[in-house]
Amino acid sequence: FARHAPYIRAINRLKAEKNAVILAHNYMTPEIYHGVADVVGDSLQLAIEATKVEAGTIVQCGVHFMAETSKILNPAKRVLIPDMAAGCSLAESITAEGIATMRAQYPGAPVVSYVNTTAEVKAASDICCTSSNAAQIVAALPEETIIMTPDQYLAQNVARQVPHKKVVWWAGSCIVHEQYTTEDITEFRKWNPDTRVIAHPECPPSVVAASDFSGSTSGIIDYVAREKPQKAMLVTECSMASNISDALPEVDFVGPCNMCPYMKKITLEKILWSLHTDGPEVFVAPEIAAKARIAVERMIELSR
Ligand code: 13P
Ligand code: SF4
Repeated sequence: FARHAPYIRAINRLKAEKNAVILAHNYMTPEIYHGVADVVGDSLQLAIEATKVEAGTIVQCGVHFMAETSKILNPAKRVLIPDMAAGCSLAESITAEGIATMRAQYPGAPVVSYVNTTAEVKAASDICCTSSNAAQIVAALPEETIIMTPDQYLAQNVARQVPHKKVVWWAGSCIVHEQYTTEDITEFRKWNPDTRVIAHPECPPSVVAASDFSGSTSGIIDYVAREKPQKAMLVTECSMASNISDALPEVDFVGPCNMCPYMKKITLEKILWSLHTDGPEVFVAPEIAAKARIAVERMIELSR
């Protein structure tokens, strides 16, 4: 941590001077998560926190769709993202035309889009969801057939939880979670029989079925903090274990993990530069933002 200290001090000083807050996703590296973030959380928590920000500037330490969501929900604020190239394979997998194609295929079915989408896709959707409320949202909709985009695996995992619905999906996937296989888990369990395996619902359903628990990134953190298993394998992004291991010395975090190359674009150096230059700033066209806001706010309303 010592080599990060000068950056952490400079960021925290500049943050106060510029009346800025840092909203950081659970996948940020420990020096960001513990050193400079004002709020940490999963996608739903960060979206809700964005609505409450009173400071003039939000520095979104996460990926681009998260910064867009903050701008959509709190348009009067300046929203900065330290690296514009912090994308997401799910957000890149679908456009508004894709939503139109799905609607044509399943007339009358509502579109539930994961927040891991662009503002245009949110604007073309009926409601959003995150990994922490997807099943709740799908169950609450009156229609029997529900279109879920763009994560096929999240959709398939939700379909198992809500068997009375016919869930259809777009074929997108997360490059971090799609890599895990059941063989990884069975092989790992063979040599580490007492390990609690905890998977994010962006993993294929077979992987989720082979795990002991599945939940959003904050759901995973809460589960480990509550259960304190002797050994835990987090089937998700690598920073998750690094961020919580100091606070949970009784838990041995074991097993392989995958890194999200998009999340890892956000560094202390870039956060400092962002605050220093007031950029790069994220904008969403007002007519798109207005429609997207309806889909995101409906989600927040239904998840209360
Ligand atoms: P969470 O909403 O669970 O934080 O997920 C966001 C994400 O991008 C996971 O890959
Ligand atoms: Fe997107 Fe996957 Fe990275 Fe999350 S982990 S931001 S879903 S690519």
